[in-house]
Amino acid sequence: MFWNQVRFQKDCPKLHRDIQYPSFDDYRKEKFKDLKHTKWHSGDEKHGYTYVTGLFGLLCGMYGLKSELVHFLSSMSAPADVLAMATIEVDIKNIAPGMCSSYKWRGKPLFIKHRTEGEILAEANTPFSALKDPESPEQRTIKPEWLVVIGICTHLGCVPVPNSGDWAGGFYCPCHGSHYDNVGRARKGPAPLNLEVPPYIFLSDTVVLVG
Ligand code: FES
Repeated sequence: MFWNQVRFQKDCPKLHRDIQYPSFDDYRKEKFKDLKHTKWHSGDEKHGYTYVTGLFGLLCGMYGLKSELVHFLSSMSAPADVLAMATIEVDIKNIAPGMCSSYKWRGKPLFIKHRTEGEILAEANTPFSALKDPESPEQRTIKPEWLVVIGICTHLGCVPVPNSGDWAGGFYCPCHGSHYDNVGRARKGPAPLNLEVPPYIFLSDTVVLVG
C-alpha cells in the first residue's frame, strides 16, 4: 500500500508533492507513527542512555588518567635502594670518648665524634668574634658529647683528618691547611664555613639516625 506523505506541505508547498512514498508504519514504533512527532520530542529515554554512556566513558577516562599519573609519578621517585641509602642508622656505643668514626652517607664521608668533657669545656665559651662562621656548640649539636658532621672541607672539598690540627680534638684539612675545632667550626686557613651538620636524630642513647 502506498501512502502520500505531506510532511512539508505547509513550509515547502512546491516540494515534490506528486511523489508517492511507501508506508513504513509496520516498521515504526508506535510513538514515531505520528509524522509530526519528531525524534527530538520523543526520545527522553535516549537522552538518559546517552548521559549514562557519557558518564561511564568519563569515569573510565578519569581512571585511566589517574593510573597513568600514578605510574608516571612513581617512575620519577627514588628507587628503594636509593631510599635505603638516604638515611643510615649508626650504632655509636662503641665510639669511645675522644674518638671519631667515619661512615658513608649519600656518597659523602660522615664523621661522628664522641667529645670528651675537656673538649666540650674548651669550646664552651669561644666568643663569636673568634669565629669565621659564628655558631655556638649548642647550635651544632643535639647532645654536647656527640658531634655529627659531613667530612668535606668547606674550602675545596677535601676530606679533613679528625683529631688533628691546632685545635685539640678538631679536624685538619691537609690540602690547603684549614683547621676546624672539635665542633667542626672553621678556625684557621682558607675554609670559609664550618663543617656541615646533616639532619639527624637520636633513636636511643646509642643509635643515631642520619638523614
Ligand atoms: S680543601 Fe681543605 S683547605 Fe682547601
